[in-house]
Amino acid sequence: MNADRDDTVEELPPDIAKKARALLRSLIRPHLAMALFLLVIVVLTALLLIIGPIFIAEALDTGVPRAVDGDPIPLIRAVSLFVSSTVASAALAFVSTRLVGITAQRILFTLRARVFVHVQRLDLGYHEKSSSGRLVSRQTSDMESVQQFLSYALFETALALLQMLFIAVTLIVLDVPLAMVVFAGFIPLFFITKAAHTSQRTAYRRTRTSIAKVIVHFVETMGGIRAVQAYRRQPDRRDTLHDHDSTYRDANTDALQGVAWFAGSTRLVGNITQTAIIVVGAWLVIEGTTQIGVLAAFILYLRRFYGPLDELVQSFNLYQSASAALEKIAAVLDTDPEVVEPVQATPLPPHTSAMRTSVSPVSEAHASAATGRSIEFSGVRFSYGKGAEVLPRFDLTIPAGQIVALVGATGAGKSTLVKLVTRFYDPSEGAVRLDGVDLRDLADDELRSSVVMVTQESFLFAGTIADNIRIGNPDASDAEVVAAARAVGLDPYVRRLPEGYGTDVKKRGGRLSSGQRQLVSFARVFLADPDVVVLDEATAHLDIPSERLVQNALATVLEGRTAIIIAHRLSTVEIADRVLVMEAGRIIEDGAPSELISGTGRFAELHRAWRDTLV
Ligand SMILES: Nc1ncnc2c1ncn2[C@@H]1O[C@H](COP(=O)(O)OP(=O)(O)O)[C@@H](O)[C@H]1O
Ligand SMILES: [Mg+2]
Repeated sequence: MNADRDDTVEELPPDIAKKARALLRSLIRPHLAMALFLLVIVVLTALLLIIGPIFIAEALDTGVPRAVDGDPIPLIRAVSLFVSSTVASAALAFVSTRLVGITAQRILFTLRARVFVHVQRLDLGYHEKSSSGRLVSRQTSDMESVQQFLSYALFETALALLQMLFIAVTLIVLDVPLAMVVFAGFIPLFFITKAAHTSQRTAYRRTRTSIAKVIVHFVETMGGIRAVQAYRRQPDRRDTLHDHDSTYRDANTDALQGVAWFAGSTRLVGNITQTAIIVVGAWLVIEGTTQIGVLAAFILYLRRFYGPLDELVQSFNLYQSASAALEKIAAVLDTDPEVVEPVQATPLPPHTSAMRTSVSPVSEAHASAATGRSIEFSGVRFSYGKGAEVLPRFDLTIPAGQIVALVGATGAGKSTLVKLVTRFYDPSEGAVRLDGVDLRDLADDELRSSVVMVTQESFLFAGTIADNIRIGNPDASDAEVVAAARAVGLDPYVRRLPEGYGTDVKKRGGRLSSGQRQLVSFARVFLADPDVVVLDEATAHLDIPSERLVQNALATVLEGRTAIIIAHRLSTVEIADRVLVMEAGRIIEDGAPSELISGTGRFAELHRAWRDTLV
């Protein structure tokens, strides 16, 4: 359904590799001191690792002959130094692994938080066109990749490279001709690494993209499991998953094949070099230009030289995967929200009118002031992205405290209009004003506390009923929560639940009907106590008894506020002061309900049709 949409979101900016590096730097910067400390540890560890064979060489070349001559001291010294260096390097390995683990987890913690905060800040437009599954895969599998690299591979890579460097230096010091034989092996290694880097990069980008598709498909299927089961779409969903999953499998297989080639060919080069060393070394020993101990040390070093190469192959693997993942994460962080808070916010004017008629039991301070605010659309034009214009030049004024019912055919632009009032989107042209202040000039906090939208799906978060009501105002006391529930008529139902307000809404026994969920969202509004309430088809799917219930609650909730209700039912229109009939992004009728009903226009027609359904 949104496969093509996904691809547009998935498109990575061309300079993404640079952005990913910048992101990595910004993540490491706060841990610079620790990074330097770890660098010291790496250097020490590498030094200890290469110092070992020197003691062995000493033991063989000096220690053994002297012991034969009756002086065991040099041999004992060399052996104890070797043992100490091994113990010290084990201790360093413990310290470094521990510190790397702690630091990597801290970095990941920051990164996850950053992505989460950023994604929440992104405008609704972004979320409407990207699937949540994609973001899930950023937060899970991509994070996992980065974490593996940071906690295992980065330190290992540094250690392996340093070790190789130190060994190279030591080899030169030990024996120049033999060292040259070892270095000759570098030439093929260089080309192998270069080729592997290029091919692996593509392979790992493919794995990140395809695992994201698998996750997206999974999340979407689970999110729409009712539709899937109702229409018996399981086989289709499964087939699509198979497709995505086999792409992922193939991408992984290809990537691993690259690893296999890399591992195999480096090993081959290593073994050939080792053979060459033995042959050349033996010859040099026979010639008398090299000692047998030096040759032994060389062979030990070579094992240590090609040992880290195996590590490097593994790390390289993780590095490729992590950098592809980091690019995807960087791309999310690089997306700017289109709806942004102003740098210099304009405050709303103080409420002008007097006390609200019924004093809210909730928040005295607010209740005494709230009388709603006026909403004004002036010269608004709007289209989604580059799409067709949904609102062509729209002007509308709604005075403070007015309850407006918005009716019209599907696709007329009703939801779009209210999404502009909540500033989920900004108009392409013109302005929407709240008491004369352009919504774009309002601080986010003020906007969110002044305008509240109740959506069709009254979303319940995991937690208790009280928690869910408190979303309207996190600071509300228990008494206020109960007062809000009572005001909207939810209280009697909650009392009947096993644990009352403490009932978990996701657990059996806490499940609420659509009508009750709607009441929960009304109670939220009641607690939030906004000036403006917007309801999008909030009562559309209720049965008649629930509808009555909700209607009564609605009247209470809307009292003293400005409201725009997208009405799908006659009963909703009855509580409105004014009805707007919308068609193709324009208002074609505007008047009091009674006035429009008695007329001959579209609303009169609609009203008759509604009435007929009730008899
Ligand atoms: N997120 C969106 N992206 C692109 N087009 C949209 C989006 N939402 C709605 N539209 C289009 O805008 C028009 C008005 O939609 P909407 O405001 O939802 O109408 P209504 O709520 O009256 O049914 C429709 O043509 C619809 O296809
Ligand atoms: Mg709609």
